[in-house]
Amino acid sequence: MTTKLYRNARIYTPVMGGSSARRGTEQGEITVWLSGSILVSGGRIKSVGEEASVSKNLSPADVDMEIDLGGAAVVPGFVDPHTHACFAALREGEFSMRLAGRSYLDILKAGGGILSSVRKVRGTSEDELYAFSKKVLSSTLSYGTTTIEIKSGYGLDTEAELKMLRAIARVGRETPQSVVPTFMGAHAVPEEYKTKPDDYAALMCTEMLPAIARSGLAKFCDIFCEDGVFDVAQSRRILSRAKELGFRLKIHADEVNDLGGAALAGELGAVSAEHLLAASDAGIDAMANAGVVADLLPATAYSLKKPFARARKMIERGVPVALATDLNPGSCFCQSMPFVISLAIMGMNMTPEEALTGATLNAAWSIGMEKEVGSLEAGKLADFVVLDGETPAVLAYASGVRPILSVWKRGERVA
Ligand code: NIG
Ligand code: FE
Repeated sequence: MTTKLYRNARIYTPVMGGSSARRGTEQGEITVWLSGSILVSGGRIKSVGEEASVSKNLSPADVDMEIDLGGAAVVPGFVDPHTHACFAALREGEFSMRLAGRSYLDILKAGGGILSSVRKVRGTSEDELYAFSKKVLSSTLSYGTTTIEIKSGYGLDTEAELKMLRAIARVGRETPQSVVPTFMGAHAVPEEYKTKPDDYAALMCTEMLPAIARSGLAKFCDIFCEDGVFDVAQSRRILSRAKELGFRLKIHADEVNDLGGAALAGELGAVSAEHLLAASDAGIDAMANAGVVADLLPATAYSLKKPFARARKMIERGVPVALATDLNPGSCFCQSMPFVISLAIMGMNMTPEEALTGATLNAAWSIGMEKEVGSLEAGKLADFVVLDGETPAVLAYASGVRPILSVWKRGERVA
């Protein structure tokens, strides 16, 4: 097993504390080692801290390789906990329609949007889906994403959903990134069920969810709870069945309209609720009480030209906030966690420290990866990003560029 010593780093990391994601004032607590070192063996962190203490009991024979990080800021590898990064074609034409004034939900209602991605994915082979997704993931890797969640949800029948999940599993085996798969068969009501959405909800419960559970290809189940998509009653029914079958839950909640999705996330004990642009005070409190992580997607608000989610309110009320790209061909084709962090700081008034926790440790909690990634601590994977600056604030300060010198996964340079 190779042992490497990374030295001369300004290390900024949130640290685990207790048995839940970082909330309230904890969200902004970052540990800093200005002359920091990371000792890595077999891809995992053996110890991390000030250089003097990391190398105290080390003899030269203990270390196979020393790497000087040049005094740059080093942060945990970014964890992107919400993406739809498995699809078959872009939807740039639809973006132009939105710029010209059509709304996202109108386009979906007319059979476009998610449903146009569904038509494409159904007609695309598993190999092609794999290749498309792999290409998108290598772009995210260059922006520092070392762990990523990917949802299915452009198949909307058992076979096509399984095809997506197999492609996602293969990407997970063949990219350096850690990939967490989510089943999202309830992403939209498919065209063939347009006039009978309750029948599709029934199919989800009796056929699709059991088949996906048997396949073992997804850890989480997610649903789009929105006007004209799945209402609260249908969402409750589908997610309750998913929970029974052993899935952990996520909900696209209150993205465009306040339907009560955030409150449903609290009621069902979901791991996270996503988007939340229109979440009510009551919904936010229900999430805080149940310890649901808010996965906020400011690049989607930006791309939809909507007001950002109320991150400050959520932090004040004790909701742990995570940040994600939402990378998808429709509402937000964003591949850059630094851009998301920048929007969180500039648009949602999060501090750089809060945003860093959101893009790393809280994001890891929201996809059940908190024991493996999300902070630079002994025992975790040696996943980190070397920034082109002295502090994490450079992620917002250096706008429109890639403020990254290098990206490391399991102690290996990957970008
Ligand atoms: O999170 N809102 C639903 N799903 C995605 C968009 C997917 C798409 O447009 O293809 C989202 O915004
Ligand atoms: Fe999404």
